[in-house]
Amino acid sequence: MSNTQSRAPEPVASEHIALKARNVSFSWENTPLHWLPNDPFATHTINVLHLLLPAGERWFVHVYKQVLPLIRDDRLREDVIGFIGQEAMHSQAHDEVLPHLKEQGLDPTPYTAQVDWLFEKLLGDRTLPPGRPRQWWLMERVAIIAAIEHYTAFLGNWVLNAEELDRRGADPTMLDLLRWHGAEEVEHRSVAFELFMHVDGGYRRRARTWATAFGALVFLWQRGARFFMENDPTLVDGKASFKDFYRGGQAGTLPSTGDMIRSIPRYLSRAYHPSQEGSTEQAAAYLASSPAAVAALAAEKGTA
Ligand SMILES: [Fe+2]
Ligand SMILES: [Fe+2]
Repeated sequence: MSNTQSRAPEPVASEHIALKARNVSFSWENTPLHWLPNDPFATHTINVLHLLLPAGERWFVHVYKQVLPLIRDDRLREDVIGFIGQEAMHSQAHDEVLPHLKEQGLDPTPYTAQVDWLFEKLLGDRTLPPGRPRQWWLMERVAIIAAIEHYTAFLGNWVLNAEELDRRGADPTMLDLLRWHGAEEVEHRSVAFELFMHVDGGYRRRARTWATAFGALVFLWQRGARFFMENDPTLVDGKASFKDFYRGGQAGTLPSTGDMIRSIPRYLSRAYHPSQEGSTEQAAAYLASSPAAVAALAAEKGTA
């Protein structure tokens, strides 16, 4: 336990929903390579999710299974188990997009091999002696996950409200994958932070691991976008630049740079609680109408 532990801020709403994984599936055969028409840059910037999330969310599950025995609150334990189920499903759903990209001439393996190494080796279980070093590394990773979840909730909230993607004729299957995932990120947005506050909660650790997570996400994201643009078989001399990212944010086809910058002090505020961001109601409304989530529910009822 940290000696700089602070009192956990309370959630803004008292409602509590039981988290459950929805066993969704998507078929990709009709999704074009540029699923946002005439916008390879926004398409590929968002496609970076398919590169990072399979390994990243598998890693969340791996770390959280080790933390479960440390949880002394039954409701939080239930939430973490629900979170694990949802993240495992997210990881699988994004992984299933990769063969489709490969069929369209965009082999993601050179990049995903590096991401796998990052999560499995660099951020994996180091051969540390039992006791404090091992505990330190586990807490560090729990804090990194809480920081990353600030951004998955941010992105989830963004995509649920990104009407410009609809206006520009984004592929409905890809949009449903992104919004089903985004809605579940909003739905479970408090779990990682509450878990961190429960098992550690140190402010210095929160700030330090935010810097690590944010720096790594920016680095990996721009590399992933460049990788896709440079290897897209339909583009001659494809490039990714910050200027394009900024313009996408202005146009509403990507998150805006200003919104991303403003999200930083919110996470670092001592009064931060993830329930202050996004809307559980909006997430639930999307999940009630998502074609993939509705089909998953029908299949579940059919087999019950
Ligand atoms: Fe997720
Ligand atoms: Fe998540």
